[in-house]
Amino acid sequence: MKTKFYEKCDEAELLEAAQILKKGGLVAIPTETVYGLAANAYNGEAVSKVYEAKGRPTDNPMIVHISSLEEIYPLVTDFPDKAKQLASEFWPGPLTMILPKSDLVPRQVAPRLETVAVRMPSHPIARKIIELAGVPLAAPSANSSGSPSPTTAQHVLHDLDGKIDAVVDGGECDVGIESTVITLATDPPRLLRPGGITVDELASVLGHIDVDPAVLSELKDGVAPASPGMKYKHYSPKAEVYIVEGSLESFKFLIDSESEVGDMALCFNGEETDIPVPCLPFGDEGDLNSQAHLLFAELRRFDELGAKRVFVRAPSSEGVGLGVYNRLLRAAAFKVITPPVIYGLTGQTGAGKSTVAKMLEEKGYLVVDGDVAAREVVRKGSPVLAELAEAFDSDILDENGELIRSALAKKAFATEENRQKLNSITHPAVTKWSIDFIKKNLTKEHKGVVIDAAAIFDSDIQRYCTKMIVVTAPEEERLKRILERDGLTHEAAMLRIKAQKNEQYYIERADIIVRNYAPHNLAQELKLL
Ligand code: TXA
Ligand code: MG
Repeated sequence: MKTKFYEKCDEAELLEAAQILKKGGLVAIPTETVYGLAANAYNGEAVSKVYEAKGRPTDNPMIVHISSLEEIYPLVTDFPDKAKQLASEFWPGPLTMILPKSDLVPRQVAPRLETVAVRMPSHPIARKIIELAGVPLAAPSANSSGSPSPTTAQHVLHDLDGKIDAVVDGGECDVGIESTVITLATDPPRLLRPGGITVDELASVLGHIDVDPAVLSELKDGVAPASPGMKYKHYSPKAEVYIVEGSLESFKFLIDSESEVGDMALCFNGEETDIPVPCLPFGDEGDLNSQAHLLFAELRRFDELGAKRVFVRAPSSEGVGLGVYNRLLRAAAFKVITPPVIYGLTGQTGAGKSTVAKMLEEKGYLVVDGDVAAREVVRKGSPVLAELAEAFDSDILDENGELIRSALAKKAFATEENRQKLNSITHPAVTKWSIDFIKKNLTKEHKGVVIDAAAIFDSDIQRYCTKMIVVTAPEEERLKRILERDGLTHEAAMLRIKAQKNEQYYIERADIIVRNYAPHNLAQELKLL
């Protein structure tokens, strides 16, 4: 079959589309949520063809679209007050209501159900076509079953070209995810699918509503879903999708420690340069509407790009975000990863970093010792040591090929350029060593990870740290401690203290400040960790 493509959307074209529908054909139409594959809702045979074209499981009922309120009465046996209130508040718009079905609705629309789903879209083209067809239109999303819903006419053609009579191109859909579905066949009403109309908006009209457990969790085998569509894996690109909870930093850690060729990421605007695999952004982290708007289009693009696995920065599940999160959970077949929280731990010399590290270890954190990492990467025979010898001359090595630290320090700290050269050679190796250490040693029992490193603000490992813990103590206290601990002269100790950045520098960069001096109690300071 040749699929007609209407892009002018003038009266004549819309009339032609409406006539195809009236005669029992299938036309994909734009709505404000996603494109729908429409058929005359009163024509059971036409509705059957929709299942076929989409490859849709035949027990998955469809939404009936109307263009004016009178059209609902023949479809339902009851239009209760609560439904009327919702209609007056949110119709036309992205809300579908489930109501008791009348006998006029053919069984193909809602196989084996006593109810029917009804929605009045707000998209002017959708409304005009329904009006011109003179009948309500049964329309699921116009994708092949299982793939992301289409938000452009091109997406529809990609899935259904040659399988349907026509596509009407009304541009990009505004909302981007399918309508909110609420059933009024239960008391209290129950949200079955989150979408553009939020739980709070519904509750502002209805008072309390229930949220079906299937919105955020996987149905147990054998449990019948309230909405048949909820049991299918949905909205999926061909790649394996994983939702990654937590901060951007934990996300980067996960990608760096896990990623393989073919991995890509769905992230928020501005994060692309930070994440070392190809990324598609889907809006600002705080802009839930833009995430909904872009989600399906971006999921489809991963297919074009040949992604094998897609790691997704978990969006907020508040408001419209609940709809986005719900679709992503299904795209991911409920695979959600929670990477460990990673704290960076630092402080000025003598502040008591090691004491804090030890206490955190006792509390159940895996501690990565930065000093050990720095030593390990320059072991005799290591590639890093060879690179350093190349960059700073082989006289930084003794006759056994071991590093002479003082010789390296002398050269490396002679100029800023040299210091940077040293960092650019050692930092990536220290980071890699630390990641490998975490991968090898982290267990489920650990509360998280603490990376204990004096120069953490200077190093690139800080990009994996969810939060920075800075340990502080007054200068005289720190002086006393290093005098006792390291047996230095007063002058040498002062030199060491003064060689470091001042306290202000650390405090400005801290997320958590731990005061390790009287009268503060260290256990108390660490209580929340
Ligand atoms: O925004 C939308 O709702 C789009 C546009 C085209 O209007 N349509 C859409 O249709 O998303 P579809 O078929 O992809 O999703 C309809 C959902 C399915 O999960 C289905 O199981 C559920 O609504 N549904 C339909 N009738 C139902 C009924 N009588 N009882 C329970 N769930 C029903
Ligand atoms: Mg669908």
